[in-house]
Amino acid sequence: MKTKLRRSGAKIMASLIVLLGSLSYVMVLAVINGSVGFAASMGVTIFGSVGVAKALGIAGLCAPVSMPWGLIIGLAVGCGVVRGGLRYLEQYSNHYIAFKLLAVLRDKIFGALRVLCPAKLESKQKGSIIAMITSDIETLEVFYAHTVSPVCIAVLVSAAVFLFVGFVSGWYLALVALAGYLVIGIAVPLVSSGRLKESGVTYRREFASFNAYFLDSIKGIRDIVLNGAEGERKAEVGRRSDALLRETKKMKHDIARAGAATELLVTLFIAAALAAGILSVRLNGLDLGRMIIGTVAIFGSFGPVLAISALPGNLTQTFASGDRVLNLLEEKPAVLPVQNGAKIEYENLDVKDLSFSYEKGAPVLRDVCMHAGRGEIVGIVGESGCGKSTFLKLLLRFWEKDGGEINYNGTDVDKIDSDNLLDNVTMVSQSTYLFDESIEENLRIAKPDATREELEEACKMASVHDFISSLPDGYATQAGAMGDRLSAGEKQRIGLARAFLKGSRLILLDEPTSNVDSINEGIILKALAGQKSKKSIILVSHRESTMAIADRIYRVDGGVMNEEKP
Ligand SMILES: Nc1ncnc2c1ncn2[C@@H]1O[C@H](COP(=O)(O)OP(=O)(O)O)[C@@H](O)[C@H]1O
Ligand SMILES: [Mg+2]
Repeated sequence: MKTKLRRSGAKIMASLIVLLGSLSYVMVLAVINGSVGFAASMGVTIFGSVGVAKALGIAGLCAPVSMPWGLIIGLAVGCGVVRGGLRYLEQYSNHYIAFKLLAVLRDKIFGALRVLCPAKLESKQKGSIIAMITSDIETLEVFYAHTVSPVCIAVLVSAAVFLFVGFVSGWYLALVALAGYLVIGIAVPLVSSGRLKESGVTYRREFASFNAYFLDSIKGIRDIVLNGAEGERKAEVGRRSDALLRETKKMKHDIARAGAATELLVTLFIAAALAAGILSVRLNGLDLGRMIIGTVAIFGSFGPVLAISALPGNLTQTFASGDRVLNLLEEKPAVLPVQNGAKIEYENLDVKDLSFSYEKGAPVLRDVCMHAGRGEIVGIVGESGCGKSTFLKLLLRFWEKDGGEINYNGTDVDKIDSDNLLDNVTMVSQSTYLFDESIEENLRIAKPDATREELEEACKMASVHDFISSLPDGYATQAGAMGDRLSAGEKQRIGLARAFLKGSRLILLDEPTSNVDSINEGIILKALAGQKSKKSIILVSHRESTMAIADRIYRVDGGVMNEEKP
């Protein structure tokens, strides 16, 4: 499973930098602080070498060497202090940008998901979206905080040292330094990135595979124990863990080798600079003081390019993450929300010749006609997979119909304001998602400003008030992660209470009782029948027993829908 990027590395970087927006000023500040800071750190060694030149009585470079001792020492110490302050500011700006931007990106991703939901999210695996929101965004921190400014700083510092050494100590020496920067900052990363990329990709694949298997085993531990399958599971965990260890070793080995090669090259270029300096003194008459200052400046100037050569391992991962995040941000929604559309108050629904297919040439629904009035419970039955859920999703405009009409009070669904539509129509599906918050908070997402009376009223309508009241913490009871402290039936009844609290006039129910026991099914159906006078209900089920409360029943078969004779 080789992850193929849709964009080139350069394109990803450019798009990610565009996302910086107004934060790019902070980035410029970070680069300036970093570059000046590095220059200051070189100042420490340069003024140190001026001191050495003065102590040795090398008077050639008249101006600096003739400075008083106090000034030389003061400048060296001052440079150190300035370096500290600027380094702090550089890191502060980088992380300010990175974390500000991560927050902005999370917001953007949520916004993108909101528009893509629900149609496009059905096809995307939920897991990959969770990975995107957590680890992909974290990975981008590396790019914003530890990639952009180091690259800029390396370019600026290397150019500055090149010019400084050129003017102060001669261009032969400067050219040696330039060759060093190009080899270590560009050639080495290019060569090693190919190798590191490969081992990095296999490492991450093993890592993901191990994690997925391990988590899966923990989630299913009860069934493992019940089936006496510990032995095989344990062996497999061991096998995958060994494979991961092997890949980790290989990757670390590659990284260490690349690091060692780079360090060796730095040493070689420093030796070359020294040789060039000595030759310049011997052959070109460069004075010793200038030579010492130039070579010392070169010795200390490899830091920024070294930082670049350490990047490639991280960068491939960053690009993959950036690519996925950009893909999501650019994904076109299946349905665009209707803004400033018609507003309705639900009275009746009239569907005429409705047709729909997910994929061309494979119609799910053909020429479907149905009618629902106020205060009616309309049932829809049919084999699993015949298109019942699809029909309800079309009523909510989660997908856009291919042909025909869906008229609410005579207005087509494509013309109705999307927010207004969702105020009028709500859906309770097979299972209700409960957030890891209190029951009260879980109910309130349907109506944040609901009074306590309204909450209790909705729960009474859904026959769940007595149950909630019997809990020690009542409405303040935590539902637990994914509502795991409540049974499926209790969750469904809370879902129903949510729908009642929302106050929509039309409630669509998609197999609301298919996951619950018969006692809960009875309670739910009775609650629904009790609300008939106030609410209009379209009830979908593949179970005939559920249809006992329906006033009229439609049957879906082969893509068409027919009303059953009473
Ligand atoms: N998001 C989707 N993309 C493609 N095909 C889908 C999608 N959702 C459902 N289908 C297909 O459409 C058909 C009807 O599905 P659905 O409406 O869920 O049936 P039902 O609710 O009656 O069991 C099925 O063949 C199903 O595989
Ligand atoms: Mg269904």
